[in-house]
Amino acid sequence: MSKYNFSIPRAPAATNEPHPENLKKTWQHSRPVHGATAAGVYGVDKGDDEYVRIFNTHYNNFEGKVLEIGAGTGWFAKQILTSCPNVEYTVLDIKRNIEDTIKHTLSSFPNVRYITSAEYEEALADTYDLFIATHCLSETPRYYYTDVLAKLKTKNCLVIDYGGDPNDPGFNATLEEWYTQFPHQEKSINKALLGGAKSDIPVYIGKADKA
Ligand SMILES: C[S@@+](CC[C@H](N)C(=O)[O-])C[C@H]1O[C@@H](n2cnc3c(N)ncnc32)[C@H](O)[C@@H]1O
Repeated sequence: MSKYNFSIPRAPAATNEPHPENLKKTWQHSRPVHGATAAGVYGVDKGDDEYVRIFNTHYNNFEGKVLEIGAGTGWFAKQILTSCPNVEYTVLDIKRNIEDTIKHTLSSFPNVRYITSAEYEEALADTYDLFIATHCLSETPRYYYTDVLAKLKTKNCLVIDYGGDPNDPGFNATLEEWYTQFPHQEKSINKALLGGAKSDIPVYIGKADKA
């Protein structure tokens, strides 16, 4: 096992779980901010500035390999790519979102690597310096996110996800267990994020080193 590898037992795929390219639609409708995804609120050209503030607080001028899973409109990735010219950015998302939206948002960054969720294991072959996931993992099937978290090799993380899917009560415990691998942990509840006034939104900052 490598230094950054962490072992979470894989959950076998239940027959009724969706293919990775399909969302867990049941959960979409019970979010604390009903119907309010960041894209729905901000459109494709804006985003939640609190993401950027959190990133800059912990990873200002970051350099190295970044994996973002579930990049939404790509707005956050664009802010990072603009402020951190020395990142190698990989986006893992469902194919239609990559093609229809993210590639357009990131059109001025031709070196971004795109991997579709159907081929997610390809993304997990590398070791990353930073893993970013905001409100994505809890939208994916349990067999999928347990496999991603079990196989992912990353030194640092920025994860924002309150889970809460009534059909998947094990999500938060799995995420918390995965998070224990980071030698330096700064978990906080952020009220300034979209939806933060209505619901506790945990922000998981995990680092290999305190610096
Ligand atoms: C609620 S949106 C969050 C978007 C953005 N990260 C944010 O915080 O605003 C969920 C994102 O996860 C993506 N997604 C859904 N299923 C996925 C999967 N199995 N693998 C990777 N991304 C997935 C969606 O296409 C979308 O980009």
